Amino acid sequence: MSIKILAIESSCDDTSASVVIDGVVHSNIIASQDVHKKYGGVVPELASRSHQQNIVPVVSEALKQAGVSKENISAVAFTRGPGLLGSLLVGSSFAKGYAMANKIPLIEVNHLQAHVHANFIQEKDEPEVPMPRFPFLCLLVSGGHTQILLVKDYLQMEILGETIDDAAGEAFDKCAKVIGLSYPGGPIIDRHAKLGDRDAFTFSKPSIPDFNFSFSGLKTSFLYFIRDSVNANSNFVEENLNHICASIQKTIVEILLDKFEKASVELNIKEVVIAGGVSANSELRSKLVELGGKYNWNVYLPKLKYTTDNAAMIGLTGYHKFLKQMFSDQGITPLARYSLQDIS
Ligand code: KG4
Ligand code: ZN
Repeated sequence: MSIKILAIESSCDDTSASVVIDGVVHSNIIASQDVHKKYGGVVPELASRSHQQNIVPVVSEALKQAGVSKENISAVAFTRGPGLLGSLLVGSSFAKGYAMANKIPLIEVNHLQAHVHANFIQEKDEPEVPMPRFPFLCLLVSGGHTQILLVKDYLQMEILGETIDDAAGEAFDKCAKVIGLSYPGGPIIDRHAKLGDRDAFTFSKPSIPDFNFSFSGLKTSFLYFIRDSVNANSNFVEENLNHICASIQKTIVEILLDKFEKASVELNIKEVVIAGGVSANSELRSKLVELGGKYNWNVYLPKLKYTTDNAAMIGLTGYHKFLKQMFSDQGITPLARYSLQDIS
């Protein structure tokens, strides 16, 4: 009999549900919350309320698109954390209620582990996707996290290094805010950068030991650079927007790839993947492929729609936990902080 997982993702500002059947994604519905745009960042209370409004229609649509009735679901997987507690509570409460009402197992999923699984997503009716082989290195870059992971198996991941302050996505979003772009700024910087000169402006890169990262110094120096430039010419940002975006994007991508390259060389692992919202960045993707050519790496890039938050990645992780019968009980609570280190 086939294993049908219903998955729920509600860690931040996207309400998503997916049906994964025998490890293949049959539906992935995402309701994004535009309500935060005017505040320049996610407002937790508004996010929770939107999740409450969205979750039932999103789940119904996911079941409908997969052609599965709710009685036929084998287990329900949900994001336990990390994320906004109020948002996580909506998804986890829904999942618990669903599991109890249908008398099926409940599976908790770590959101970061799930981002890595985005690289294993195979959709229904799609030609076979090449999958990374274990062990591989993953550069996990999202709005809240920046880590280099040694991925030993589907559910076994070790953190080799991580940011000591801001995440890469946060650096994109905060720099975007400084130059008046809306939230989330990462994809907007990416768009403008395509039209600009990457070498127009230079920003210094941090020197942090091991495989760790830091982005807070860059963010501050960017803020001062813009402030001083605007003092000298009040139209500086408008006149140079594309160049500014291209230059800051180049710097963030170089900081990320310098460390990823170091990890691959030192561990002698040539199987490399990226994951998380920032893995949608066009420069990160193209520079990673370029670097891969230099070192003979096998580079895997997640499909763009699975880079940012989605329930398909939660469903796939849930599927692997189902195979190992890793079920949770009804007493389980969401965790705002939930390190990969806590589960491996
Ligand atoms: O993984 P994700 O959807 O949510 C978290 O788990 O945090 O990542 C969201 C982050 C945001 O910071 C957003 O600006 C960034 O991913 N992002 C990008 C791009 N698309 C999304 N950053 C740079 N370039 C992009 N194309
Ligand atoms: Zn995420």
